[in-house]
Amino acid sequence: MKILAFESTCDETAAAIVEDGRKILTDQICSQAELHAVYGGVVPEIASRCHVESISILAQKAIDAAGIKREDIDAIAVSYAPGLIGAVLVGVNFAKSAALALNVPLIPVHHIRGHIAANYLAYPELEPPFLCLAISGGNTLLVDVRDYTDMKILGATRDDAAGECFDKTARVLGLPYPGGKPIDMLAQGGDDKKYSFPIAHVEGSPYDMSFSGLKTAVINLVHNAEQKGEEIDRAALAASFTKAVSDSLVPRAMQAAKELGYKKVVVAGGVAANSRIRADFKAACDKNGYELFVPPLKLCGDNGAMIASQGYYEYLAGTRAGSDLNAYATMDL
Ligand code: KG4
Repeated sequence: MKILAFESTCDETAAAIVEDGRKILTDQICSQAELHAVYGGVVPEIASRCHVESISILAQKAIDAAGIKREDIDAIAVSYAPGLIGAVLVGVNFAKSAALALNVPLIPVHHIRGHIAANYLAYPELEPPFLCLAISGGNTLLVDVRDYTDMKILGATRDDAAGECFDKTARVLGLPYPGGKPIDMLAQGGDDKKYSFPIAHVEGSPYDMSFSGLKTAVINLVHNAEQKGEEIDRAALAASFTKAVSDSLVPRAMQAAKELGYKKVVVAGGVAANSRIRADFKAACDKNGYELFVPPLKLCGDNGAMIASQGYYEYLAGTRAGSDLNAYATMDL
């Protein structure tokens, strides 16, 4: 079964075709990051406008690159929540029109479920159940993935997402948006013990997380140093900050896997590209005897293939949408 999927929840427009949920025929992505970099973050109106300009071109490019005809498409999937509402609406409306024009089913896909499914594309043997940590620019969730379409949130950030924290830390250090990769590079070789940052614990909710205190601590440290005319060891700061994020995530994931009795640990989302977090997960999983699954870098960030993959499993579970499908800025998993 060939599914053509669309993704437009933030600043990437994407169209992909995936066969039977696992085989990528094509994965077309148009990133707007450069346009938003001027402003230091995503400007929703610019994002929506760029999606409108790119989506039909990407859809045709995907069909051409896959070497198929429009009639070969069996279903359309679309990321319909959560995200920037104007941006999500572009993908949803285009997908509705495509499904109508091709006379094929329309499958709504939760964006974070898509991030999790990126691992099905990378690891053909991976099947639920497993423990998943989804870490992206807008969400940080610890999830019990009981089945392809049956998931339970064990814990979530109470404020900022991990990716947002990377982006704001990068901004205060004068690094470009999106800041995750530049921080990752700056942290290489930096002394991760030089600066000490807080790791938040939420009383009574061991799997919930919080990153706003960490973000404020970094901003205060940089501003204080600037006011006193003191030099900051930027590499050490990036390394110490990344260690604090990783120390908030990895032990919680290990504890949750232990409590659920799972042997498989999956990491997903843009922040899963971070080299320190990947290494810390690998070391912790090896120590605990868990199998670790992390997507290759190109499938960590937003893409259409992950939506097509999850779309396939949603289709098998009977999920369908009509032409009244709406877009949502927030939605439970
Ligand atoms: O999953 P994603 O592409 O978009 C959302 O669904 O939100 O994640 C984007 C986030 C951004 O905050 C970006 O800075 C972060 O992922 N990111 C990284 C790295 N590469 C991207 N964070 C840390 N280290 C990286 N290497």
